[in-house]
Parts: sequence; C-alpha cells; structure tokens
Amino acid sequence: MRILVVGGAGYIGSHMVKHLLSSNHDVLVADNFSTGYPSALRDCPHIEIDISDSASLKTLLSNENFDAVFHFASFIQVGESVTDPGKYFSNNFSATLTLLQSMVECGIQNFIFSSTAAVYGDPAYTPIDESHPKNPINPYGRSKLMVEQALEDFDRAHGLKSVTLRYFNAAGADPAGHLGERHEPETHLIPLILQAAAGRRSEITIFGRNYPTPDGTCIRDYIHVTDLVDAHARALDYLVAGGTSATFNLGNGSGFSVQEVITTAQAVTGKSIPTRDANRREGDPAQLIADATKARNVLGWQPRHSSLEQIIADAWAWEQKYPWR
Ligand code: UFG
Repeated sequence: MRILVVGGAGYIGSHMVKHLLSSNHDVLVADNFSTGYPSALRDCPHIEIDISDSASLKTLLSNENFDAVFHFASFIQVGESVTDPGKYFSNNFSATLTLLQSMVECGIQNFIFSSTAAVYGDPAYTPIDESHPKNPINPYGRSKLMVEQALEDFDRAHGLKSVTLRYFNAAGADPAGHLGERHEPETHLIPLILQAAAGRRSEITIFGRNYPTPDGTCIRDYIHVTDLVDAHARALDYLVAGGTSATFNLGNGSGFSVQEVITTAQAVTGKSIPTRDANRREGDPAQLIADATKARNVLGWQPRHSSLEQIIADAWAWEQKYPWR
C-alpha cells in the first residue's frame, strides 16, 4: 500500500516507518522536523511540510494515491501544554483538522491516529477500558480528545474511517538498535533514568513518594514501542478490510511504580542510579493501567516485548549509542 506517515521522524513514527518498509509498503514521511530527526528516517523518502499549511498539504495529497495516513505528529509535554495551551490546540488539534479536511477533499479514507491515556484524566477505576469517562485534566489531553471527537463527526459526514490508538506509557527502542527515543528536552522517566545510569545526568528526580500506591510512587503501564507499532499495523489491516472506525487502548495491563522502574533499571544496566526526592509533578495521576482487552479481541494484538526488563534493556542499548547519528 501507499502510506503517508505524518510525524515519521519522531520516536514512535520512525519505528512505524521501519516496520512499514520491512512489510514492503510504499511509504512517504511528512514531517516539519520541529521535534523529529531526519537521521531517524534513514533511507525513507520524505517531504518537509507543516500540516497546518493546507495548500501544500492538498498538493501533496492530490498528487499521490495514498491508501492510508498515519498521524504521529504532535507535541507531547503535559506540563508545557498547561503553560502554553495555544501551542497544543494549534498543532495537535487545529493542524490535525487541516489534515483531515485535506484528506476528505482528496478522497483519502483511512486514518490512524495517535491518541493518549491522557484523554481519561484521573482514573475513576482501574484498569481503564475505552468506555471510561473522558475528563482530561490538561490541554494536551484535551487537544487529543478534540481530535477524537472530530473523527466521529468526519466519519458521519464524510465516511472517513479511523482507528484511534490511546497509548499508555510508550517506552523501549527498536530491538535491532537502529532507532530509539530522542526528545529534546527529555521528560520521560525511562530515558531520564538511563541517562543517569550512563552518567549523562547526575541523578533522577522522583516526583512524589506520598501517592496512595504500595511504595508511594506513581504507577504506570509501560508498553514497548515495537508492540505499539504492531498494533498500528493491525489497525491498518483492520481498516482496509472494511473495519468501522474504532478506538483502542494500548498497554500491557500491568503497572510498575517509579521506584520499581529505577530498581529494574539498576539491575538491567548494572549501574547505580542516584535519586533525589521532589514534590509531586502537577497533573500526575497516582496510577494509570490499561485494559487492552478490546485490542486483543478485535485486532488480535498481543504485546510480545512486554517485560519491563526487555523494555529497559532495549532502551539501554540505544542510550549507550549516544551521541546518536
Ligand atoms: N517521573 C519522575 N521523574 C522524572 C520523570 C517522570 O518521577 O524525572 C514520574 C512521573 O511523575 C510519572 C512517571 O514517572 O509518575 C512517568 O512519567 P513520564 O513523564 O515518563 O510519563 P507520563 O505518565 O507523565 O506521560 C505519559 C506520556 C504522555 C501522556 C501520558 C498519559 O508521555 O504523553 O502518559 O497520561 F500524556
């Protein structure tokens, strides 16, 4: 198939591109390189474009016969979304709307969207299934939920078919070592822990030890990027086989505390990882664990790299390649 990957130079997008190419799809990446890296594309054809530029977008979409569009391009820092909400609504919502409108005008029917557990807000129960109330507690989560709502309306009005994938905590790296997580600035727990293990930072800060969890630190559901990619590939197959628009949680269904992640990282790397306690980070729920039964049942998805040791080992192999090319 001819596939457009928007945001293909970013962390999850670049892993997706590698998978699509290895499955013999014909892939074009569209990226504005605001946070992605050209080197992550390796040999994949790409075009530098901002999806808020509707004229360029329409030229691109009308000149190519894309069977489907994957959309990974978004800003992802929850804290920044609170201090600069316009940046998030503008890029994550408004630019995505431009992309959807352009797809409709150019007759492209299949869309796979990266959403987030942040659409749920503070959990009312756990594990969280897709019908859990959607009450995002920050502009990042709201910007993603607004796209989800727009997708329902675009389906009703234009027949645009979409799969929305709500990631829990994406982590890990390409097991072959070609790709990995690379954010500037880095804010995510596992890469920060591994930077401390590698001596690239002096310590890891633990945001809060007074949560209502067994060891007092926050619990998250870490899911290997390779498993996320596999779910996207299944979502594509589902859509082109005539599947109706659908939303799926993507997580392992098991949670690890910040302290457990640090302890596991010490064991995997064999390095000591200094820690420092700090206050809670604003907007962090105590516990986020996915119920991904629906993805298993409908997509036949089963995480295969689900152990925390494996996730950390692959991320560690990537960290040790720093500076990345
Ligand atoms: N944490 C620390 N110290 C750090 C960084 C993180 O203690 O230096 C803690 C956080 O407080 C949190 C856990 O580690 O409890 C995981 O934090 P991350 O920043 O790695 O991930 P989040 O759970 O905050 O965010 C992830 C995605 C977001 C998404 C969110 C959904 O990265 O894009 O899940 O809730 F919005």
